[in-house]
Amino acid sequence: MSLNSSKALFVDQDANFSVRDDIYHEHNDPNELFIETLYSGVNPADSKHATLLGIRSTVIGYDFCGRILSAPSGSNFSNGDIVAGYTPSRIGRPTKYGTHQPQLLCPEDLVFRVPSNLSESHAAALTVVAMTAADAVFNIFKLPLPTTPAVFSSPILIWGASSSVGICAVQFLRASGCQNIFVTASPARHALLRSLGATHVFDYSSSTVVGDIAAAVEALGQGPITNALDAVGTFTTPSSADMVAQSVKNSAAILASVVKFDEGFQMPLALIKDGFHVHPLGAPHPISIPAQPERHWRAWEGFQWAVKNYGTKFKLPSVEVFDGTAEDALQEIIKVGGEGRGFGKLVIRQPFR
Ligand SMILES: NC(=O)c1ccc[n+]([C@@H]2O[C@H](COP(=O)([O-])OP(=O)(O)OC[C@H]3O[C@@H](n4cnc5c(N)ncnc54)[C@H](OP(=O)(O)O)[C@@H]3O)[C@@H](O)[C@H]2O)c1
Repeated sequence: MSLNSSKALFVDQDANFSVRDDIYHEHNDPNELFIETLYSGVNPADSKHATLLGIRSTVIGYDFCGRILSAPSGSNFSNGDIVAGYTPSRIGRPTKYGTHQPQLLCPEDLVFRVPSNLSESHAAALTVVAMTAADAVFNIFKLPLPTTPAVFSSPILIWGASSSVGICAVQFLRASGCQNIFVTASPARHALLRSLGATHVFDYSSSTVVGDIAAAVEALGQGPITNALDAVGTFTTPSSADMVAQSVKNSAAILASVVKFDEGFQMPLALIKDGFHVHPLGAPHPISIPAQPERHWRAWEGFQWAVKNYGTKFKLPSVEVFDGTAEDALQEIIKVGGEGRGFGKLVIRQPFR
């Protein structure tokens, strides 16, 4: 057991967030890497998993880029390697897995070596959103991996495509061979999304958006939308998933949503290698998410293509580095999980100031 050397962002059993400097780590798992965090990546899940899924009494954060301080004997990694990846989630998650702290532990198989084409700050922003998009495209939609692309001409819809999950999904679709990628986003994002592979762009807030999509599908003449992803997961009325359902006239279409697995939707998941429990707000009991290792490793293969081709065939167009106090970082993280910070990814330079 060792004392973390500086401040960590903690959530207690009552879902109160705070800055702590008394966090101890258990070093007892032989397949784990001990890592000095260089950047911790921010996701809505960092706060939402505590408030909505019961993952509490832990240090928050999943994404990271760091330097290996200690690798177990027989490891594929060496001390000093610069790596990135993400850490497991579950009820009872140990504090050592939280990434918003200067040192963490991570199972070796959730980590990749950061290549020279990928900066450390971008590496820290990538794994959660790209793995979620990869699960949607390569597992739920069952489209080919970028290493074996095939022409697919039926229209596919990504709703909320300028979310970070959506940005990754559009690029995976392009790399998979999809010819007709329909997206909704704010008009300010349309040119960017076209440059990343979108072929038909619509404003999600337009009162005519559903009809506009239907008219474009008709004009294209490649049949109905066969696959659609709600990549933003709003809970407005109507929700973004409701808008997907309204826009897809084909009852045989495969529908996915980042926050929903009922009413005909399947939910992509960032990490399903191992099973885990969560306790959704209002549910009488925790629910079990079963392990699906084959699904995980297929998404990981697509993700590793993105890492290898980062900067040329795949990118996150906006990654902001926050360099400040732990207290200020915590406020930004809570904002991301609440009303949002708008377009782009946020990563936090570690250690906090
Ligand atoms: N299931 C999983 O394992 C998993 C993993 C990761 C994330 N998620 C979930 O996926 C969602 C997206 O996460 P993220 O980190 O990618 O989000 P993000 O990058 O923070 O998304 C920001 C973008 O959302 C878009 N947006 C906001 N309101 C919208 C609306 N009403 N309709 C369409 N787009 C809207 C905005 O697009 P414009 O700029 O175009 O307005 C904004 O740029 C979240 O709900 C998150 O919790 C789930």
